[in-house]
Amino acid sequence: MLAVESLTKSFDGFRAVNRVSFELRKGEILGLIGPNGSGKSTIFNLIAGALRPTSGSIRLDGSEIGGMSADQVCHLGLARTFQIPRPFRKLSLLGNVALAAFFGQRQRVTRGEAERQAARALELAGLPSDPRATTGGLGAAGLKKLELARALATQPRILLADESLGGLDHTEMDQAAAVLERIRAELGITIIWVEHIMGVLMRVVDRVIVLDHGENIFEGAPTEVAQDPRVIEVYLGKGHK
Ligand SMILES: Nc1ncnc2c1ncn2[C@@H]1O[C@H](COP(=O)(O)OP(=O)(O)OP(=O)(O)O)[C@@H](O)[C@H]1O
Ligand SMILES: [Mg+2]
Repeated sequence: MLAVESLTKSFDGFRAVNRVSFELRKGEILGLIGPNGSGKSTIFNLIAGALRPTSGSIRLDGSEIGGMSADQVCHLGLARTFQIPRPFRKLSLLGNVALAAFFGQRQRVTRGEAERQAARALELAGLPSDPRATTGGLGAAGLKKLELARALATQPRILLADESLGGLDHTEMDQAAAVLERIRAELGITIIWVEHIMGVLMRVVDRVIVLDHGENIFEGAPTEVAQDPRVIEVYLGKGHK
């Protein structure tokens, strides 16, 4: 569905993403992991149109999307969540998500339809769809759910979920994983899931890619990743067996 080839992004000569290639297959959950600063969010920003690639290509169903604007990419059915949530604090939860439904789809929808789609997305993400519910009091896990609901409301075919944020406990991480599995099962959405820790991700993903210093150092089954010497070195440091 999505083919990334030799993707590179330099910031003033510093290569945050260095010749990364991978494919995303329809219906899979692909894990993208790597230590802090390894380039995961930058890859999402490149795919989703927040950043322009320095070189390389990103093809969606065979057509180049690298360098398109964020709204163009979103209208093609590719939605992302942000690692650092920034909701509209003055709007209700429903209002936040209805805006995404309204502006995130290529075809025009009425306000009523946008609100119905928003309510469904909130329910899937595990948040109240009551129009009186506000962003006040949402903790880290709640804000992640809101990000997810905003992305789902755009009715994507592909979801880029940047879940790497501290502050979630084990139960909350298990719940986040269950929601992603449900999204794939019920809506047929193909997912790339970014994390900096392996943990629960390994139980859910079909394949995993490991990044280090902007380079793809491993691609394979989650069962193989923990045995890979380069991955062990990156996660545990040199000298570990
Ligand atoms: N807009 C930018 N300008 C300059 N440098 C940037 C920019 N965005 C990212 N970087 C740098 O690129 C590298 C990769 O950053 P990125 O945010 O992609 O890492 P990450 O893998 O998502 O890390 P984390 O797990 O902490 O979220 C880092 O060294 C970061 O400082
Ligand atoms: Mg990141």
